[in-house]
Amino acid sequence: MRFRIRTLNSISQKGLERLPKDRYEVADEIGRPDAILLRSADMHAMDIPASVLAVGRAGAGTNNIPVSLLSQRGVPVFNSPGANANAVKELVLAGLFLGARHIGPALDFVRALDLSGDELEAAVEQGKKRFVGHELPGRTLGVVGLGAIGVEVANAAHLLGMHVLGYDPQITVQRAWQLSSGVEQALSLEDLFARSHAVTVHVPLVDATRGLVNAKRIALMPDDSTVLNFARAAIVDEAAVLAALQAGKLGAYVCDFPSEATRKVPGVVALPHLGASTSEAEQNCAVMVADTLRDYLENGNIRHSVNFPEAALPRVPSTARIAIANSNVPNMVGQISTRLAEAGLNIADLLNKSKGGVAYTLIDIDGKVPAGLVEKIGSIQGVLCARAVQ
Ligand SMILES: NC(=O)c1ccc[n+]([C@@H]2O[C@H](COP(=O)([O-])OP(=O)(O)OC[C@H]3O[C@@H](n4cnc5c(N)ncnc54)[C@H](O)[C@@H]3O)[C@@H](O)[C@H]2O)c1
Repeated sequence: MRFRIRTLNSISQKGLERLPKDRYEVADEIGRPDAILLRSADMHAMDIPASVLAVGRAGAGTNNIPVSLLSQRGVPVFNSPGANANAVKELVLAGLFLGARHIGPALDFVRALDLSGDELEAAVEQGKKRFVGHELPGRTLGVVGLGAIGVEVANAAHLLGMHVLGYDPQITVQRAWQLSSGVEQALSLEDLFARSHAVTVHVPLVDATRGLVNAKRIALMPDDSTVLNFARAAIVDEAAVLAALQAGKLGAYVCDFPSEATRKVPGVVALPHLGASTSEAEQNCAVMVADTLRDYLENGNIRHSVNFPEAALPRVPSTARIAIANSNVPNMVGQISTRLAEAGLNIADLLNKSKGGVAYTLIDIDGKVPAGLVEKIGSIQGVLCARAVQ
């Protein structure tokens, strides 16, 4: 079978190369697409063809995609979480150095020196005293949020010789495996702030994290500390940061979110949301989502979906596979198994997983999928989508 993919944005060539031409037809204008591949195009007003089995977003956020509508149709939406983690990590490390060595103000100072020759040299030697910095080894970095980015930042800072404290009450097993054993677990956010010369946040913006870096917590930090924010602007209380900079409690605030209030304040280094802006990050996102889309279309396996559970079974050549998305209600697997028994089929393997209101079942049967079986399963009340995976 040949799959048809409609792209709504230009997708990195490296990603498209993961979809071999003998099995995939990829174009921005394509009738009856099996899947849609996009970056930031808005799908909310789009009339999504009934043929669409999956949507792949090369990037993390899915606000531009009608996820609940697609869930109701049994269509998984894939994204590429963590594909930009290295890009963000590198900028956070740059931020640590920017703060520690006063690089921003030092560059401003040099640019403003309208001198030459001996005069320039003398002004440089005279002025550099204002920019004496500190080195990182021996200092403590507090990392709030140990997900894809936080773990990379924590491990890299540890390798730079920093003492690293981490805080994430919901850390996943996968991330815990990736975290360096040299990273110490903070007992609470207060414990982390009180012991860190620099704090960096890598949590999503939700009600619980809005204003997480606030006046009370900054007050716990040693004098002349640094706050780094490469997550989302509202995670840091900007007014509290400005007051702490003025009082000398903070020496630097390094962030990816310039605002009118902070942009020109001494001690603030504000970058224009550059965290994920590398060509590699864009490629990584496209490669990751093309791979997951391909595994879903060709094998029915689900990884990195925002609305479907993780579900993957290895393929066994002598079996055929049926993939079923259904509402997460009782007796669905029972009804599906009955249809298979009525067709005289033996189940070689079965996987059933659920996430919220959606359940997903992979069934491997000995032999081939007989004609009409998929339609019979599809007619069961509560089945959202059923297909033979070829
Ligand atoms: N600057 C940029 O360009 C840029 C790029 C990518 C991501 N981001 C931001 O970085 C954030 C982190 O990205 P990620 O890929 O590491 O996400 P992730 O989902 O892999 O990790 C987030 C982690 O935060 C933890 N967490 C949630 N609430 C917490 C709390 N109250 N206290 C402590 N930990 C908490 C979660 O358990 C999870 O482990 C994103 O939400 C996004 O806003 C920014």
